[in-house]
Amino acid sequence: MTTNIAVLVSGRGSNLQSIIDSVKIGYIGDANIRVVVSDVSDAYALARARDHGIDAVFIDPSEHSDKHVFEENILRTLKEHDVDLVLLAGYMRILGKQIIREYRNRIMNIHPALLPSFRGLHAQRQAFEYGVKVAGCTVHFVDEGMDTGPIVLQRCVPVIEDDTADTLADRILVQEHRIYPEAVKLFIEGKLKVEGRIVSVL
Ligand code: GRF
Repeated sequence: MTTNIAVLVSGRGSNLQSIIDSVKIGYIGDANIRVVVSDVSDAYALARARDHGIDAVFIDPSEHSDKHVFEENILRTLKEHDVDLVLLAGYMRILGKQIIREYRNRIMNIHPALLPSFRGLHAQRQAFEYGVKVAGCTVHFVDEGMDTGPIVLQRCVPVIEDDTADTLADRILVQEHRIYPEAVKLFIEGKLKVEGRIVSVL
């Protein structure tokens, strides 16, 4: 059965592009990206979606009286598109409880650090300024916390001489574009088992 995917974005959408490309070449298996939802009207990710004939929806947070109504609107969009799996790809908001409850262990996020270190914004810069020798990225399921859900895949990226926060971020991004499609493929093939915090690959 085809897995219907929604991708939530706020910006440039390079991770969205890696998922689109992986679906296109058949790497991800039986999946269909049904909709891309953005909370930013001019997010480049929306243009990427349209270029590939994917429904691109901007939901304006400022037009909603409160977060609850905003989230209900997103949830309705997901339902209208029969979405089975939600991917956060540079989505800059904390997802509300309603959506998390409805899609428990069916929402993934990509984070540019080796969790549980360096949660939140500018994770690559946080890691660089901390002086780590090994940085990386994490795909995890989304729970009610910020970057706290069960870890699916991680990839290490060494910090090298003459790195800046930006060169390190670029190197991490290359790995993000590999592990996110990989994690989605495992999910779609039914190979991920979640028990509490522990995700096993079957
Ligand atoms: C990525 O670094 C991702 O890990 C983080 O936000 C950034 C989004 O980049 N959550 P893009 O929009 O996918 O290019």
